Amino acid sequence: MKALVTGGAGFIGSHTVDKMLDKGWEVVVLDNLSTGLRDNLDSRAKFIEMDIVDSGLSQVFAQERFDYVVHLAAQTAVPYSIDHPDIDCKINLLGLVNVLEACRQTSVKRVVLSSSAAVYGDVDRLPITEDCVLNPASFYGLTKLTSEKYLALYHQIHGIDYVAFRYANVYGERQGDGGEGGVVSIFTRKIRHDQPVQVFGDGGQTRDFIYVGDVAEANCQVLTAPQAAVNRVYNISTQSQISVNDLVELLAEAAGKQVAKVHVSARDGDIYHSMLSNRAAIDNICWKPQMMLAEGLRRTYHSLNK
Ligand SMILES: NC(=O)c1ccc[n+]([C@@H]2O[C@H](COP(=O)([O-])OP(=O)(O)OC[C@H]3O[C@@H](n4cnc5c(N)ncnc54)[C@H](O)[C@@H]3O)[C@@H](O)[C@H]2O)c1
Repeated sequence: MKALVTGGAGFIGSHTVDKMLDKGWEVVVLDNLSTGLRDNLDSRAKFIEMDIVDSGLSQVFAQERFDYVVHLAAQTAVPYSIDHPDIDCKINLLGLVNVLEACRQTSVKRVVLSSSAAVYGDVDRLPITEDCVLNPASFYGLTKLTSEKYLALYHQIHGIDYVAFRYANVYGERQGDGGEGGVVSIFTRKIRHDQPVQVFGDGGQTRDFIYVGDVAEANCQVLTAPQAAVNRVYNISTQSQISVNDLVELLAEAAGKQVAKVHVSARDGDIYHSMLSNRAAIDNICWKPQMMLAEGLRRTYHSLNK
């Protein structure tokens, strides 16, 4: 079983690669190292330094002949997409089409896409289920939603099987400060340096934090899931919510120190509550989140101290 992980030098990608290697799969990583790191790469995986928009991509596919592709490489920062919709579109849509064309030409069996809770926008009915109204509030959310639709159409027209995962806020070891779910890593670094953490608004806003190991397991699990479970979208989440204030408390416990908070004005457009239903993924792809938040935060905090 041979898999390509685009963005495999990044946060979620490198954990996904590790899990695949541990399962004995042959893994190739393709990454331009724009936010990913060489240090994240396991030497058992083959590494190709390339941009997903590169015209040489189809040649790589023709040479390597992948069975499966997990497509994680993306422009991942919501605010950046607002300021640079052209670059967000180029990487997240033209890059995706380049990958899908190469998949089509080389008969890849299944493609997994990292979509996002950003496709929902502000939804007041919790937990958010996959059939909710989709109203992305950023160009990033829009390119993720459009990516899902590309996959559905490639399946319809060319028969390529796919799954699109809408991840909640992912956290864990190796997370950078940018991108989507960065609050845990930002707070963790502040706490490590005995600096106060900056909380937007009253801190009562809630998020659904999912551990990166659980996300990586879903990425692997779905590649061999029964045919009836694919060609659709799933939320990948814990289906629980924690406020930013309580998150700070848990991180303080993990660090074993007092943490000072500085409240600043709420950010425009930030949604107040978020929690994604994970019922469909649990019922269909033999996956369940395993990591308790307190333990995941403890591991994350201590990994930064190494
Ligand atoms: N972290 C989260 O909470 C979260 C939530 C929802 C969705 N996602 C999605 O999951 C995926 C992985 O995110 P992450 O958090 O691991 O981010 P990350 O920045 O750590 O990983 C992205 C990887 O893609 C690579 N990359 C970026 N542009 C590229 C390009 N043009 N060509 C080749 N490689 C490129 C980067 O170098 C990096 O290694 C992304 O698609 C992101 O949108 C993340």
